[in-house]
Amino acid sequence: MSTTITLVQGDITRQRADALVNAANSSLLGGGGVDGAIHRRGGPAILAECRALRASRYGKGLPTGRAVATTAGDLDARWVIHTVGPVWSASEDRSELLASCHRESLRVADELGARTIAFPAISTGVYRWPMDDAARIAVETVRNTPTAVEEVRFVLFDERAHAAFAARLG
Ligand code: APR
Repeated sequence: MSTTITLVQGDITRQRADALVNAANSSLLGGGGVDGAIHRRGGPAILAECRALRASRYGKGLPTGRAVATTAGDLDARWVIHTVGPVWSASEDRSELLASCHRESLRVADELGARTIAFPAISTGVYRWPMDDAARIAVETVRNTPTAVEEVRFVLFDERAHAAFAARLG
């Protein structure tokens, strides 16, 4: 079975999917951008589970490139998969970490039995990763990762991001 990659321009917190991917930080305790929107619209149940993860498996926080699932709370999804993207660096190539965010999120999705998953453009906001390069890494990684997920949907917040991903899918 092959995986379909789709693009949508919009707000990831208004998407219906089995799993929504959060562009989190290592603390798992919230932030701005996608992280802020997911916790705001998803409600306190998500943060409660994130705190439980910090108190157990991830005492030192979720490392960059890794992914972990919680409830999706009030969002139109069953799970939120939190992943920590790398901060852009001009001197160090962290591409493998950004690829890992996508690979690990798909691995967690497979463990859960999720069939549809929505990704934001990880690391392209506060973490300043150039959009075109992030789109290249995201699309290539999804294309090269075996998964039972049937639809991978990239939810792009604005036209510039959507165009960058569309250029990679063509
Ligand atoms: N839906 C979809 N995309 C969104 C939304 C939204 N509601 N809000 C922002 N975006 C887009 C941004 O425009 C950007 O292209 O998601 C992309 C990722 O931006 P950030 O959310 O800033 O994530 P990131 O760059 O990975 O930085 C993570 O920011 O919010 C904090 O706690 C978070 O410390 C972490 C850091």
